[in-house]
Amino acid sequence: KEGNKGIRIAETPSGMINCIGLENPGIEYFKNNIVKNIKYSSPIILNINGASIDEYIKVSEIANEIERVNFIELNISCPNVKNGGMAFGASCESAENTTKAVRKVLTKKPLIVKLSPNVTDIAAIAKAAEDAGADSVSLVNTFLAMKIDTKTRKPLLGNIFGGLSGDCIRPIAVRMVYQVYKAVKIPIVGMGGISSYDDALEFIMAGASLVSIGAGIFSNPMLPIEVIRGIDNYLKENKIENIKELIGAAHL
Ligand SMILES: Cc1cc2nc3c(=O)[nH]c(=O)nc-3n(C[C@H](O)[C@H](O)[C@H](O)COP(=O)(O)O)c2cc1C
Repeated sequence: KEGNKGIRIAETPSGMINCIGLENPGIEYFKNNIVKNIKYSSPIILNINGASIDEYIKVSEIANEIERVNFIELNISCPNVKNGGMAFGASCESAENTTKAVRKVLTKKPLIVKLSPNVTDIAAIAKAAEDAGADSVSLVNTFLAMKIDTKTRKPLLGNIFGGLSGDCIRPIAVRMVYQVYKAVKIPIVGMGGISSYDDALEFIMAGASLVSIGAGIFSNPMLPIEVIRGIDNYLKENKIENIKELIGAAHL
């Protein structure tokens, strides 16, 4: 995938809009040239996407055979690709169909389904993914957004629309994780504007078992390490032996 043309990133108040368009060299290239050169021992979550159900299946079949990959994250929520992307996660029916089709061929890896926040009821879609065989759901992907260049009087981004992420989306993302936690039994990967250990704790207390950081790394590449250390300190200071005690702790 070549990705989108033109400007692909715009800074916004407390966040950013991107329309990269999933630029990548393809799963065959990843399998043959990239994965073997990864020197780290940490588990790998491979985020995959397709322009059609058939392509999702094809990519999943290859992903299923890449031994070094520990988890597959099914992106049915990208707001800035022309074919596919968000449409696959826009309704319970399409989320269910895509998850089912991938689940059938993805026999060797746990499947995480990545949900779009650009829906009316994200909890219902999470439940549909769970019922279709997802082992976990991750949320949120970016919010559909745009920026207009007042000098040219035209949309700034090459793709016109992009996805909003960063601090500005955090309260909405936390609310969605809280709602999804009530709706499903499978573990949740929480994300959306994590910029500190305290933000990560919010997601964990809302119900996330794992957290993920995107936009925050653009301004602070050390953020993941700071988040890990910050959480460790929090656990020590509060005499909490197992972080699992905090998962969903905010639920009354
Ligand atoms: C530059 C950029 C590229 C992204 N690419 C992907 C992608 O390939 N697949 C995906 O599922 N999400 C992608 N995302 C979405 C993030 O993984 C994340 O869900 C979202 O940005 C919200 O988290 P954040 O506020 O920490 O960035 C991307 C986000 C950014 C900012």
